[in-house]
Amino acid sequence: RIYPVVLCGGSGTRLWPRSRKARPKPFLPLIGPRTLFQQSLDRVADPNLFATPTIVAGKAHIALVEEQAQSSGDARLIVEPAAKNTAPAIALAAHALPPDAIMLVCPSDHYIADEAAFLAGVEKASELADQDFMVAFGIEPTRPDTGYGYIRKGAQLGPGFRVDRFVEKPDEETARGFLASGDFVWNGGIFAFRAGAFLAELAAHRPEMAELVLQSFGEAERRGWQIHPAANPFAGIAGESVDYAVMEHTDRAAVVAADMGWSDIGNWEALMDARGCDKDGNHALGSADFSGCRNVMVDTDGVRVSVVGLEDVIVVVDGDEVLVTSRAGAQSVGKLPGAAQQ
Ligand code: GDD
Ligand code: MG
Repeated sequence: RIYPVVLCGGSGTRLWPRSRKARPKPFLPLIGPRTLFQQSLDRVADPNLFATPTIVAGKAHIALVEEQAQSSGDARLIVEPAAKNTAPAIALAAHALPPDAIMLVCPSDHYIADEAAFLAGVEKASELADQDFMVAFGIEPTRPDTGYGYIRKGAQLGPGFRVDRFVEKPDEETARGFLASGDFVWNGGIFAFRAGAFLAELAAHRPEMAELVLQSFGEAERRGWQIHPAANPFAGIAGESVDYAVMEHTDRAAVVAADMGWSDIGNWEALMDARGCDKDGNHALGSADFSGCRNVMVDTDGVRVSVVGLEDVIVVVDGDEVLVTSRAGAQSVGKLPGAAQQ
């Protein structure tokens, strides 16, 4: 069986005003009635395939996690003493699992439309992880996005490929080149590897981080299903993502293709695209009326919103805040004073 590790951290100002500091993106029901975090748990809920999940979250989100997940079976919630990005978070989870366990690292900030394709990817990835490869899930790229990691596929390796190069968040010119070459896929942020193999790679490439995580986990305090690693050694860690700390450096990186309707819902425009629309391209969540509109999305939690004669516009009403943006402007929402001040 595979051990799911669900990561939830981060702030997410780009989906303001729906996402706020107190309730960031993973904990919102952005597509369908279940939140992205709950959907991440649902995808790995089949007990024939998966062990109970290990959730890694920050102190600030304990209440949200407990409201949205069940502390059933031997599921565990590892509470990070501080946000140090994904490499230390994954390392804590690795210490909580048997060394030969295959961990499936699942972010909780993206949407996957095709669950069967996801599970097919998991099967391929676990076959390679079983041979001690560090496996990433590759997504066919559609634009030169600079917010993703890029993976150059190498030689065929069983159901996947060797990783030739792993480049985290390239600049735009580089990303354009990658896209044009046709040799690159996006890193979907989902990984599979043995817990012991991950810790060995971390010790090889980031020995200081590995040591501090080990100390911190060694002094962890258990409270019910919560595991609280010690704050002191953890505070000294130089935070870094798993991509920079391990995946860019390991010689045993592999990638499997997963065509699963993946979107990381980076902004309102991406969310609008993932939600689907009517024949005019409009989409309403909550009470909204359109007249002579094309490609307009309204997402309102209360008041009725009526829109006339507009194109490519997004309107979001959340309590005391209203956002009106063009589709193209959605990328800059995080920089608004309202998003920054909340
Ligand atoms: N527990 C915990 N603690 N979770 C964290 C932390 C942390 O300190 N930092 C981030 N996370 C969680 C986020 O909530 C998210 O679910 C996931 O880990 C990935 O972190 P992001 O901060 O969203 O990473 P990114 O989007 O910049 O880049 C990653 O994902 C891309 C795909 O969405 C990289 O893996 C890229 O290579 C990849 O393309
Ligand atoms: Mg992300």
